[in-house]
Amino acid sequence: MRILVTGGLGYIGSHTVVELLANDYDVSIVDNLYNSNIHVLDRIEKLTSKSATFYQVDILDKEALEKVFQKEHFDAVIHFAGYKAVGESVAIPLTYYQNNIAGSLNLYELMHKYGVEKIVFSSSATVYGDDFAVPFKEEYGLGTTTNPYGTTKKFNEIILSDLAKAKQIGSAILLRYFNPIGAHESGLLGEVPNGIPNNLVPYIARVASGKLDKLRVFGNDYDTIDGTGVRDYIHVVDLAKAHVLALDYSFKHEGVEVFNIGTGKGYSVLEVLHAYERACQKKLPYEIVARRPGDIASCFADCSKAQALLGFKAQYDIDKMCEDSYRFTVMNPDGIDK
Ligand code: NAD
Ligand code: UD1
Repeated sequence: MRILVTGGLGYIGSHTVVELLANDYDVSIVDNLYNSNIHVLDRIEKLTSKSATFYQVDILDKEALEKVFQKEHFDAVIHFAGYKAVGESVAIPLTYYQNNIAGSLNLYELMHKYGVEKIVFSSSATVYGDDFAVPFKEEYGLGTTTNPYGTTKKFNEIILSDLAKAKQIGSAILLRYFNPIGAHESGLLGEVPNGIPNNLVPYIARVASGKLDKLRVFGNDYDTIDGTGVRDYIHVVDLAKAHVLALDYSFKHEGVEVFNIGTGKGYSVLEVLHAYERACQKKLPYEIVARRPGDIASCFADCSKAQALLGFKAQYDIDKMCEDSYRFTVMNPDGIDK
């Protein structure tokens, strides 16, 4: 079976392509290389000894995207392509709505036109907003999103649900990721943030490699174990494996289904920092600063639905996530540049 993976050279996409190839799926990737580069494709091939077909296409370019659908038949799509920086989405919302909504609509129209029935979509825990109590359960539905990025995820969930109801799509599996971190244990694939990272683990990685002087911990007066924010971190390889299970599930089911993909366990900022210290075997400097606007105290998943219906259970713990992140950081000081 051939799977079209949009954004397949990005952080989560590349790890997912590795798992798809390992599970004997044929893979075609569409990526415009906005936030990735072509060396990722070589690394995927090196890791799997298999190759994926690559199209350097922007999903906003409907004509170019249609040529891909004319060339090959796909049994399903996994849709990662999009922009993901929360702060940037507040500054340039139109760009986010264009890419994440208009780009997705192009894809959904072509899926309908060419009879591609199944889709797995990258959603986010951000769709719960701050309306609900932890642990977040799928049945809570959609909360009040607090930024345009989150709103694009919420709109995509609504659009795909409507398409499934109208039977214009056979099945749509909406995966709400919690906080993906870590890297492939080979050190060949991982996350390469642009500029100074906004997210916790990429920031700590730069402190560990000496590129940034210290972590700023955003608040220690939350109602949590040590006052710092608690999140449900999940190893990117576990997350990639969840996509294969979701895809398998989609071939046996009709309609829309939502799944939280996390570990179900929350760690505080300081707990993550200390896990990273164990991984890099040195003390990492930090200072406590004011809360970051828009942050919530705790965010973690109820993962029982994914376990019951997909058979998904995350394997890797926070130490493994930090060890793999650090290995990738050491092996790729300038990112994936060759
Ligand atoms: P990423 O930026 O590493 O990967 C996205 C890929 O899509 C990149 O390779 C980029 O070049 C490509 N892309 C972007 N716009 C495109 C376009 N118009 N046409 C073709 N390709 C395009 O991001 P990621 O962390 O791998 O995230 C993948 C998906 O998961 C995104 O939709 C993101 O919103 C979602 N998600 C990510 C996180 C996270 O923490 N990383 C959490 C929840 C949800
Ligand atoms: C962020 C996004 C969210 C997205 C998620 C996916 C924001 C506001 N939200 O969530 O939409 O779905 O990533 O991974 O960006 N922290 C520090 N110092 C730092 C960076 C972070 O103390 O330099 C703290 C934060 O306050 C938070 C925790 O670390 O308590 C995790 O932050 P981050 O990695 O940015 O993820 P989220 O805020 O959960």
